[in-house]
Amino acid sequence: MQKILIIGANGQIGSELVSELRRENGDHNVIASDIKSSGNFDKYFVFLDATDKEAVRQTLIKYEISEVYLLAAILSANAEKMPGNAWHINMSILFNALELAKEGLIKKLFWPSSIAVFGPHTPRIKTPQITIMDPNTVYGISKLAGERWIEYYRDHYDVDVRSVRYPGIISWKTKPGGGTTDYAVEIFHEALTKGHYTSFLDANTRLPMMYMPDAIKATIQIMKADKDALQIHNSYNIAAVSFTPEELAQSIQKFLPDFRIDYKPDFRQTIAESWPESIDDSQAYKDWQWQHQYDLEMMVRDMLLHLSKKYHKEADLVL
Ligand code: SER
Repeated sequence: MQKILIIGANGQIGSELVSELRRENGDHNVIASDIKSSGNFDKYFVFLDATDKEAVRQTLIKYEISEVYLLAAILSANAEKMPGNAWHINMSILFNALELAKEGLIKKLFWPSSIAVFGPHTPRIKTPQITIMDPNTVYGISKLAGERWIEYYRDHYDVDVRSVRYPGIISWKTKPGGGTTDYAVEIFHEALTKGHYTSFLDANTRLPMMYMPDAIKATIQIMKADKDALQIHNSYNIAAVSFTPEELAQSIQKFLPDFRIDYKPDFRQTIAESWPESIDDSQAYKDWQWQHQYDLEMMVRDMLLHLSKKYHKEADLVL
């Protein structure tokens, strides 16, 4: 049984990935780590600053880790507020892991890229796997540079590193922090608690999105795929649904008819407009049989079912 380390285990994706990997591999084989505590995990949790290479090395050795999921990062909106720091953090975390993998301390590494690697000149509809990439955000620049480096380490040092370009991820367990697609999570919380949401993106801003169970499935599936089947050595496009704030609001209104939305776009609107509307993920299907499961309505229903319990608002839902 391989031993796994999750870096960024208290984040939106990390917190759910830990649970799924523990279910599959046993609790003691999955070490959760983060720079901050959230109380999510009281067992098999270590504090770890992933910018500290020696601390990462000691953790790998102590727990005899073979696989690492590197989920810590400063997301797009937060990175714009601290460009130098965000670049330093995002790149040093990745470089530390790549170097430790090169030394043989990590056998298999997962590092996510993002739709943020695309930019204003990228074709926005059904964005191809290989296309123009001219990101104009700090986060996007760090992810694109990261993609080039993971391919370099794979091709020159035979480091086994796997990656997908996550779209905006929607989930109910842990909120995202500092991204441009966060509106699509906030809207559910405010729909249930206030009956109203002011969106920081315009009504018609279409972005690629994915429900958490699909994101977890993609992450674990690409790590299990046969290495030789993976033709793409940087990062795979993956897709699920694309919608606008208005379409999401309409879908929520089917279950919460009194819900209202208005729009007050801020600096995140410019970021969103530089990203694709939809993604062509046929290469991921071809190489490792990737397919999403959740469409917009299934996702909205599931989100509202879970969050209405949390807020004791089950009676408000029209099902
Ligand atoms: N959800 C991310 C963000 O908004 C995109 O990868 O930053």
